Amino acid sequence: MKFRFLGHNAWHLTVDSVSVLIDPFLSTNPFAACKPDSLQADFILVSHGHGDHFGDTISIAKRTDAIVVAIAEVAGYCAKQGVKSTLAMNVGGSISLPFGRVKMVPAIHSSTLPDGTPGGSPAGFLITFKDGLRMYFACDTALFSDMKFFSGVDYAFLPIGDLFTMGPDDALEAVKIIQPRVVVPCHYGTWPPINQDVQAWKTRVENETLSKCVVMKSGEELTIANAKFR
Ligand code: NI
Ligand code: MN
Repeated sequence: MKFRFLGHNAWHLTVDSVSVLIDPFLSTNPFAACKPDSLQADFILVSHGHGDHFGDTISIAKRTDAIVVAIAEVAGYCAKQGVKSTLAMNVGGSISLPFGRVKMVPAIHSSTLPDGTPGGSPAGFLITFKDGLRMYFACDTALFSDMKFFSGVDYAFLPIGDLFTMGPDDALEAVKIIQPRVVVPCHYGTWPPINQDVQAWKTRVENETLSKCVVMKSGEELTIANAKFR
């Protein structure tokens, strides 16, 4: 599996030649790793309707015929905008896709679509790949104690920016609850109000928990061999 950080909360996974984008916020992202036109996608997972997550979903989906996977309100909005294939889910539901099983999990946040209409509940994603590797994408959320249900995932992608999501202290609590093998911080530094000292946070994580903290720069790629790879 190849795994690339595109900046903010945008991710690009390639699993057995299936291309998956998560929250492709690129054209107005000051630290976007690439232009939306350069990306291929078979699936686009959208956590909620806010512009810094919904991003370029419509244009990428129209160009690539990717299937947009999102909560019913967001999926319905995409269909109305002319996206051919959408897959509506809701919180708590799962579906098997060619790259693995995707569960839509709760997030404590809000959600408005680009036209100002309500976007339903915001969400996170728990993905179980075919080899058993599990990744939890918290997306935009506050800390909540039911993160205990994601405990033991291989990778957790957590916002640390504060103001709109968990900040560093709550994200550290989240690591203690989830106990991921690896935690990757995101949703910080995109604009001054969410600037954080990520190296200081990494030090705290590695001093106070058993999780490894991997700080990814926009554009950086990880190759993940398999679930047992340590
Ligand atoms: Ni948001
Ligand atoms: Mn956000």
